[in-house]
Amino acid sequence: NDIEKGTYPHYMLKEMYEQPGVVRKISQAYEDQKGELTLDVAICKALNEADRLYIIAAGTSYHAGLIGKQYIEKIAGIPVEVHISSEFGYNMPLLSEKPLFLFITQSGETADSRQVLVKVKALGHPTITLTNVAGSTLSREADYTLLLHAGPEIAVASTKAYTAQVAVLAIVAYVAAKEQGKTVDFDLKNELAIAANAIQTIMDSKEEMEQIAHEFLEVTRNAFFIGRNLDFYVSLEGALKVKEISYIQAEGFAGGELKHGTIALIEEGTPVFALATQQAVSLNIRGNVKEVVARGANPCIISMEGLAEVGDRFVLPKVHALLTPLVAVIPLQLISYYAALHRDCDVDKPRNLAKSVTVE
Ligand code: G6P
Repeated sequence: NDIEKGTYPHYMLKEMYEQPGVVRKISQAYEDQKGELTLDVAICKALNEADRLYIIAAGTSYHAGLIGKQYIEKIAGIPVEVHISSEFGYNMPLLSEKPLFLFITQSGETADSRQVLVKVKALGHPTITLTNVAGSTLSREADYTLLLHAGPEIAVASTKAYTAQVAVLAIVAYVAAKEQGKTVDFDLKNELAIAANAIQTIMDSKEEMEQIAHEFLEVTRNAFFIGRNLDFYVSLEGALKVKEISYIQAEGFAGGELKHGTIALIEEGTPVFALATQQAVSLNIRGNVKEVVARGANPCIISMEGLAEVGDRFVLPKVHALLTPLVAVIPLQLISYYAALHRDCDVDKPRNLAKSVTVE
């Protein structure tokens, strides 16, 4: 049964374990009879007609949206803006001539996102909702729905919905590019299959993540997550996971930005998690690690096969450069899970948080 914990001590652990299966399921759910990745004809048409995509989301879904922007701009060449839903209402940017709105919401019920949907619909703009819940409010009210196929997510801290969002956004970008006759030099289905296996491999190393959580997060007051390019967005999500369930003050930063102020917070022993999965900025992020180490930080470098160096704490299996968020987030989810356990926190039901927030 989808909503039973089974033998797992927590829904969060169960849901993290489901991630390889979710990525595989998405790949199948979005293929046509010939086995090619595809989207609904009406959605393809909407994407083709838009001159700019506006992604609207909150929380973890916003973090997935930041990655979606990279995919859709880099693969499909469609300009994308990503906005926090609660800000959009009174801070609406100048819209392009033919905007298309994409709401990313696991629950499909987030009031902040819905108020934007109501507003832009009133302006007559086309809307798509990317959600895990068919029949949810935002799904019913938008013109089109894209489903996450992640199965019910019960733990308040989102894990499998995030990886599902990233995977579907990659498919959206890929199909949009093909629709426009752009050449795409990789086979996304194949790359998603490789990523699913890699997620499985990382899940199988969960004892290592427990050890890292023990060493770095058991007694600390704060923690930093840094990365560049796609790793930056994953750092934001990793920090959010740690904050949500272990109540450690954690912040994600672009590797190059840390020195412009925040580095003042680095003290003897401050944990700094650094992601190094991006070849083009590999040297730069390692430079940033040296900067914080020189100020006493305790670094935990998570790199990727092919970019690993001696002393890296964990090396992720190699995946396509654009799909690194699918795998880099897994150790961070696991580390936050174990940090919460070690600190006696209620993993599935953290204080002050709700699974879906239906007030603005
Ligand atoms: C709440 C949850 C978060 C979630 C956010 C957006 O704050 O606690 O985990 O990311 O809402 O939810 P949505 O359902 O719109 O993705």
